[in-house]
Amino acid sequence: MEEMKKKRILSGIQPTGTFTLGNYIGAVRNWAVMQEQFECLYMVADLHALTVRQEPAALRAHTREAAAMLLAAGIDPARSILFVQSHVPSHTMLNWVLCCNTQFGELSRMTQYKDKSAKHPDNVNAGLFTYPCLMAADILIYNADLVPVGGDQKQHLELSRNIAQRFNNTYSPTFTMPEPYITKAGAKIMSLQEPTKKMSKSDTNANSFILMTDTPDQIMKKFKRAVTDSEGVVRADSENKPGVTNLMSIYSVFTGKEFSRIEAEFAGKGYGDFKEAVAQSVIDTFRPIQEEYARILADKAYVDQVLKDGAAAAARIADRTTAKVYRKVGLLQL
Ligand code: TYM
Repeated sequence: MEEMKKKRILSGIQPTGTFTLGNYIGAVRNWAVMQEQFECLYMVADLHALTVRQEPAALRAHTREAAAMLLAAGIDPARSILFVQSHVPSHTMLNWVLCCNTQFGELSRMTQYKDKSAKHPDNVNAGLFTYPCLMAADILIYNADLVPVGGDQKQHLELSRNIAQRFNNTYSPTFTMPEPYITKAGAKIMSLQEPTKKMSKSDTNANSFILMTDTPDQIMKKFKRAVTDSEGVVRADSENKPGVTNLMSIYSVFTGKEFSRIEAEFAGKGYGDFKEAVAQSVIDTFRPIQEEYARILADKAYVDQVLKDGAAAAARIADRTTAKVYRKVGLLQL
């Protein structure tokens, strides 16, 4: 009997520093699980990181660290392709064609572009503007069926679909239409200090985010300082109690408990007990990952070999798509 073809997954993460709890819950945690069912490609998006000024030595170090963290979080190179974006030059080759098939107006509407250009007014570069075309290239070049991301990437995914559809209509069916895969629980983990804002590693207040490399002591302290409200009751209400609701989401993801059960567990108890339990659930989840991370990162040769093999495997797929696209748009091939 013919084996059913597995759906293909592609996702990426920027090596702009250590991953946050938001990155883990919104994306990375799902990546490891998806390996069971799908053919997966996971990428350290180093080219995307260049849209914000990076210190070169730090970017190099963070790229290897990001790969080690993904391995520690359960990405298995025997089952998935793990690679660095800049190691597969086809991404930038396809990017150009997609840039030429994307409208200025479409890119102007991207909220991430608007946010980042407001945050870095001294460096509103062209790469920041065309970033979604490169992201579309990352996805479409592998004909990915599903793209597991956090809620903040949804708009970029929609644009990728529009670009794919337009290209397919203009030339001929070429790209698979990618579907976003966004889990409801934890699609957007909020800042611990301003719970109406997304948790982000670029936040200037280090108490607002948890890093995957934070020590148990740091994690406990940051949760204890987390902004809540004055009601003193653990109950979900994202509009009026965004801080408490965010902590409940984190606790729910790590313990598997539903909101109603969490509310019952902490009925009559103060926020102190609740925050401690949330922090402990994060500490317990991260402990084995941190141990693996230290072990893997110490073996630089191993990480580099995984990335070399990953880039070669990814390029075999990507180069074929790029050649096809170049032919379809009329570039002379000898
Ligand atoms: P990046 O590096 O900003 O984030 C990596 C992943 O983490 C998710 N995420 C969150 N999820 C929940 N709550 C949060 N607070 C939170 N913060 C981040 C993001 O949604 C993302 O899934 N453009 C992408 C990288 C990329 C990519 C791709 C992704 C490049 N090419 C192709 C998918 C497919 C980015 O900057 O992610």
